[in-house]
Amino acid sequence: MRQKLVAGNWKMNGSRASIKALLDGIKQGIATVESAEVAVCPPYVYLADVEAQLQGTPVVWGAQNLSTEASGAFTGEIASSMLQDFHCKYVIVGHSERRSLYGEDDAMVASKFAVARAAGLKPILCVGESLDEREGGVTEAVVARQLDAVIALEGVAALADGVIAYEPVWAIGTGKTASPEQAQEVHQFIRQRIAEQDAAVAEKVQILYGGSMNAANAAELLTQADIDGGLIGGASLKSEDFLTICRAAG
Ligand code: PGA
Repeated sequence: MRQKLVAGNWKMNGSRASIKALLDGIKQGIATVESAEVAVCPPYVYLADVEAQLQGTPVVWGAQNLSTEASGAFTGEIASSMLQDFHCKYVIVGHSERRSLYGEDDAMVASKFAVARAAGLKPILCVGESLDEREGGVTEAVVARQLDAVIALEGVAALADGVIAYEPVWAIGTGKTASPEQAQEVHQFIRQRIAEQDAAVAEKVQILYGGSMNAANAAELLTQADIDGGLIGGASLKSEDFLTICRAAG
């Protein structure tokens, strides 16, 4: 049985005060979450606050991005060793906003996956198609290409050291969730594609769904056979909504 994981992607939201209130709310309710692992991914500058507030709780934390470089003259970048310094467990790589707004291509995302893994961080690899791609019938081809870039660089076994998040771009922040059947279909495709190369890795790897998952629709998504949790944007900014999703995960 794969453990479920619910990770909050706070994106570029919050302040020291709002994050304290959000974490207080999550900490108060975390005992009502039975078996799912709960993670939050704040903006970098709040990692120290988050670490201080979550230490000794079951909630873990991660970052939203990292540099492919180890250190040096890379103004504005954050290295994997810095994330280790703040005891991050996870780091999101290849989020569609990074891909579309900051020009991260499959090769760069694969190298971020590799750098995170080498540092002992668990990369959450985001994949997913745009609306045009879905309507053009190339969803599987796009997701396969994004996945294969990591497999080509790191080998299929490396996927077991991370987490995959299927996030259809048309569902992110739009309120348009993929139906449980649409999501399950792609999750199953991803698992099958991995299984063709390594059945044990396919069985082990957690595949999260992301894209307008909320307190109302989480349960039906999270009960699909190949959906092992959620990567939650908007709904992770309200502790009650986030906890409802976490409880729905088990
Ligand atoms: P959303 O974002 O839940 O606000 O759609 C999900 C994500 O981008 O990870």
